[in-house]
Amino acid sequence: MNDPRQIWDQRYGLGQASLADNWLEHWGAAWLAHAHGQGYQALDIGCGNGHESAALLALGWQVTATEISPTALAAAEERNPAARHLLADVRTMPEIASASMDLAVAHLSLHYFDQAGSLQAFAEIARVLKPGGLLLGSVNAEDDLNYGAPADASGWEPVLVDGVPKQFFTSPKLLSCLRQHYELLELRKSISLRYGAPKSVWDFAARRLPPT
Ligand SMILES: C[S@@+](CC[C@H](N)C(=O)[O-])C[C@H]1O[C@@H](n2cnc3c(N)ncnc32)[C@H](O)[C@@H]1O
Repeated sequence: MNDPRQIWDQRYGLGQASLADNWLEHWGAAWLAHAHGQGYQALDIGCGNGHESAALLALGWQVTATEISPTALAAAEERNPAARHLLADVRTMPEIASASMDLAVAHLSLHYFDQAGSLQAFAEIARVLKPGGLLLGSVNAEDDLNYGAPADASGWEPVLVDGVPKQFFTSPKLLSCLRQHYELLELRKSISLRYGAPKSVWDFAARRLPPT
């Protein structure tokens, strides 16, 4: 099995991928406090079992949640029936109208691609965000040594970890993905304890620039 969709689906089927670290409720809270909220449109990318979607619904957002794993999507749908759920790869989301989202949240779901795929994912999110819309994300950092980071992560070749290609971002790599369509508002290195051993990530907030 080497299709990431099947691998993720199997993980969710075995209950191996459903951990939560309240990232959005903690770091994201300050950004959400400045965002529109009530009644506005939020996109939860790679929603897993729907933890971030549930937090957004509780704040009054209208939520669209996407996944490549049908098993995860079904679990998220059962947990959050008020959200709209779509089986969609972040690199191409044709069901989502351009400039329709006020907020996009991508918690640990944007670090599975090579350079072309990463640029495609950030551009596709920019397409669906309204100008001025907010992107909140968290991606593997270059020093995430407990979870597969290579000694030198300056290149773009993904590393195969447990069958899934993983990207490890240096700040220049992440900035290169954001440069064309976004204004960077915050970038911080942080440690997640979600999987037990410390996991190093970049958290970032960025605003969708008006199309040129
Ligand atoms: C580490 S999990 C995070 C799940 C959830 N955001 C959370 O924080 O609990 C990564 C998720 O990204 C999804 N994913 C992987 N590749 C994806 C892609 N190309 N498009 C959309 N989602 C993807 C996986 O199925 C998985 O649910």
